[in-house]
Amino acid sequence: MVKNFNLMKIKNITCIGAGYVGGPTMSVIADRCPHIRVTVVDMNAERIAAWNSDHIPIFEPGLDAVVKRARGKNLFFSTDIEAAIKSADCIFMSVNTPTKTEGEGAGRAADLKYIIACAEQIARSASKNTIVVEKSTLPVRTAEKIKEIFTKNSQYTFHVLSNPEFLAEGTAIKDLENPDRVLIGGENTEAVSALVDVYAQWVAKEKIITTNVWSAEMAKLAANAMLAQRVSSINSLSAFCEATEADIDEVAKVLGSDSRIGSKFLKAGIGFGGSCFQKDILNLVYLCEHYGLTEVAAYWEQVIVMNEWQKKRIAQLVIKKLGGSVKGKKIAVLGFAFKKDTNDTREAPAISVCETLLQAGAEVVVFDPKVSAQKVQADLAHLSAHHTQLKSASSAPEACVGADAAIVLTEWDQFKSIDWSSVVTQMSPQAWVFDARNCLNHAHIKTAGLNLWVVGKTPTK
Ligand code: UDX
Ligand code: ADP
Repeated sequence: MVKNFNLMKIKNITCIGAGYVGGPTMSVIADRCPHIRVTVVDMNAERIAAWNSDHIPIFEPGLDAVVKRARGKNLFFSTDIEAAIKSADCIFMSVNTPTKTEGEGAGRAADLKYIIACAEQIARSASKNTIVVEKSTLPVRTAEKIKEIFTKNSQYTFHVLSNPEFLAEGTAIKDLENPDRVLIGGENTEAVSALVDVYAQWVAKEKIITTNVWSAEMAKLAANAMLAQRVSSINSLSAFCEATEADIDEVAKVLGSDSRIGSKFLKAGIGFGGSCFQKDILNLVYLCEHYGLTEVAAYWEQVIVMNEWQKKRIAQLVIKKLGGSVKGKKIAVLGFAFKKDTNDTREAPAISVCETLLQAGAEVVVFDPKVSAQKVQADLAHLSAHHTQLKSASSAPEACVGADAAIVLTEWDQFKSIDWSSVVTQMSPQAWVFDARNCLNHAHIKTAGLNLWVVGKTPTK
């Protein structure tokens, strides 16, 4: 074992994984810490080439400008993983951790194969004592496994820290530049304080929370589960409102003005999507079961059950309102990303809604301002039997031409200003608008003479 760990200052950071988390996070670190050289590596050469081009691979408001400021100065994107590991005194692991599709825990547990491969590569290539930071969201006690890999495969000392990311897509730069808190979990106080020093360049010290490594790993899963739970709670009440003439906006306003509850994450909609919520809750459920906590597992699982129900419920409702069958009918799907201001479609509710509609025989025409037609096709490729029913349009009005219904699945700002009085003239007679995000100008839609359904509102007779 090589001793003399000199952790006082981090000067060279390497991040493995140039995705939605690694890319934006490292760009902001480089921008805020000009004295640190930051290298982001990925085995996906196409992705790295895109990061080095004028068309960065992620749509994220504000990211372009940050990358342009730092790239080539102290921010570098590369495929030379080995060299970047060798030169680093701190390595962030920011690789994907999807839900396992086979083997023990399939459908629930996080698949750690990318993290394990990443740790093995670090152990193989490192040329000095190094701080290793878990940035990806990982099951509680993963740090133990990672440490084992290092101890078995390397002569150097590695301090494993957990520094989970709380950025939300669409607001990533704002969240990174002005976070509610930064969380750093670790055993070795010198390593922890070296990483605290990095964030302290732009984040107030009192916002940097240090914990033990297990609390940090768990807090990330718990934070996502709590947020998702709020969405499922308000969505359950949306269905209740639709049945009772209570109004979801009024209910949410009352709930949100209670300072104990707070106003955020109370927007009823089509259900949550994104790469984190479902995956992290499934992981939490799996871990609880592993520890014999059956009731705790069932409690959290219900958040997912409610989310699945909301997506299916709204898709079925569209079919019902269109006379009980959509066979041969044309439906414009407005928005495909899992929320606005991102081109990410992972776990997007639109995938599930399109599935139901295509399987019911509808012709589906998708428009999303930032998701390409190819991406939509790829996300629905498993429905190959229905591929002739799936089309794309290059604007919302174009998607609505000849449509029996338009269904809004992503709350893009531009949908607020659709000129329905002109769009209606191109739609079928008696056409419907389904506002599954409650984000449109409803008075305008009604004046245009369209039938309207809004999530959380009792339809007027
Ligand atoms: C989430 C967490 O917010 C973030 O802290 C974590 O690091 C990663 O997971 P993200 O998935 O990017 O971020 O988006 P988020 O803004 O949390 O939205 C998740 C989903 O919930 C979206 O589909 C969104 O449309 C939905 N949502 C959110 C609602 O339906 N209603 C709300 O009130 C809030
Ligand atoms: P996230 O949303 O967590 O950032 P992404 O899938 O967008 O997830 O990004 C993860 C990135 O990590 C991908 O670009 C993938 O190619 C990369 N990756 C996964 N494993 C490795 C590895 N062992 N070495 C280098 N890059 C990796």
